[in-house]
Amino acid sequence: PHSYQYIRASTRLERVRLVELHRPAVLNALSPAVLLEICHALQAADSNPEIRCIILAGSPELKVFAAGADIKYMLTLSSEDVLNQKGMHLGTWDKIYRTLKPMVAAVQGLALGGGCELAMCCDIILATKKTRFGQPEIKLGIIPGGGGTQRFTQIMGKSRAMELVLTGDMFGAVEANNRGLVAKLYDDYEDLMKGALYLAYRISGMSPIAIANTKRSVNESFELGLTSGLKTEQAFLIQGLLNSRLGEGDDEEEDE
Ligand code: CAA
Repeated sequence: PHSYQYIRASTRLERVRLVELHRPAVLNALSPAVLLEICHALQAADSNPEIRCIILAGSPELKVFAAGADIKYMLTLSSEDVLNQKGMHLGTWDKIYRTLKPMVAAVQGLALGGGCELAMCCDIILATKKTRFGQPEIKLGIIPGGGGTQRFTQIMGKSRAMELVLTGDMFGAVEANNRGLVAKLYDDYEDLMKGALYLAYRISGMSPIAIANTKRSVNESFELGLTSGLKTEQAFLIQGLLNSRLGEGDDEEEDE
């Protein structure tokens, strides 16, 4: 694949695209340039029919997922830039979230601010037992800007989310796992990456259409009311049955 300045993209196990953040000097701080590269890599994976699942991870050398949006970059923006949203690329978060193929975040070390938000843009978060998460923006006098107030609250529950975003406190992987932010914990980075690859490998063996429709239906549960979410689910179910052999002769006859 393409070569990038701040990330690395490679193909694993034939159908899995691994995207690693690689900006070691600043703990993978997410400047717009980094986010645009991530977005580019995800869109490239989406348009490559051979790729079925994506893993987003920190890099092996660093053992950190990401320490948040790039604070030094943010300080270079003038008030006029901010007012006109110039140089901020806020829409990039949504583009990342709207990746069509399933995304597994493999999170180690720290996932703070934009780093935690980037993980939450993915579909499944895996982490090491020592990973620490947090939305520390309040300590800088600002608020999370990559979907944190919304997604974090949906996942953590209002009371704990409010406590964490209002204090900026970090919290550990065990709590993240218990609250459903993280699907599974691993002893160390090597185990985490093996686990992420195995999960991505299993997902990549499923029907790509069923995977895409399932992802969209699950994500709609966070965006729409129950009634319209259920309608989407049913529409995709019917479409899937019509397109697959399940809807044809043999199975129906067996049922009768
Ligand atoms: N942006 C820019 N640079 C960062 C950074 C960030 N978010 N986080 C770390 N760095 C840089 C440091 O400035 C330092 O660079 P120099 O060597 O040039 O000084 C380098 O990375 C290493 O960092 P530390 O020396 O601080 O490493 P540490 O191990 O002592 O501390 C840390 C690690 C606790 C993560 C600390 O770096 C830290 O608190 N970082 C900021 C975390 C934060 O506030 N994140 C939220 C950002 S705002 C945001 O994300 C908005 C949004 O929602 C979109």
